[in-house]
Amino acid sequence: MKFFIDTANFDEIKEAHAWGILSGVTTNPSLVAKENISFHDRLREITALVDGSVSAEVIALDAEGMIKEGRELAAIAPNITVKLPMTPEGLKACAVFTKENIKTNVTLIFSANQALLAARAGATYVSPFLGRLDDIGHDGMELIAKIAQIFDIHQIDTEIIAASIRHPQHITDAALNGAHISTTPFKVLQQLFNHPLTDKGIEGFLADWNNRKSE
Ligand code: E4P
Repeated sequence: MKFFIDTANFDEIKEAHAWGILSGVTTNPSLVAKENISFHDRLREITALVDGSVSAEVIALDAEGMIKEGRELAAIAPNITVKLPMTPEGLKACAVFTKENIKTNVTLIFSANQALLAARAGATYVSPFLGRLDDIGHDGMELIAKIAQIFDIHQIDTEIIAASIRHPQHITDAALNGAHISTTPFKVLQQLFNHPLTDKGIEGFLADWNNRKSE
């Protein structure tokens, strides 16, 4: 499973990129709104740094508007992926971008049928939202497993991005259940490093080194 970061904050992206683990970035209108920036300028910065897919979401609700916005976004850099909502209009736009060889990420996926529809419209990626399903008492991980199984049975190339990640266990379970990618907030990526035995081990090695008898 590959790592994408789910943020529009450039410092967070730079830090995760420096760790050498980053295969892409996802943004959404809420994440962009938190930053005091021009969306297009930020996308230019991100795409110049990160080689992999950078998802940029459209705001329009009609296919015509989404196609116009998506083409403008895709013109920013070759690694822009146009993020589209899981609606009939979103899929119309997805079908057009598929013909134009523009990568797409169909977002706000909450059922296996939605994922299958998006895949058949040619989506490069589908984004099932684990955390938001868990929030309402459903099993987000079960959805990842179902989509992975369906895509496997029907040899569908669309990649599954496990989204709306809330904690490190989501990452392990998404990987085990067949997600190709997880898109993760910076805070959760940082948490993946943590283990008390790692800290204790470093402390012990340093203490032994500082107490050594010879130079
Ligand atoms: C995915 O691409 C979305 O940006 C994201 O994962 C939404 O997660 P949230 O439920 O934390 O807002």
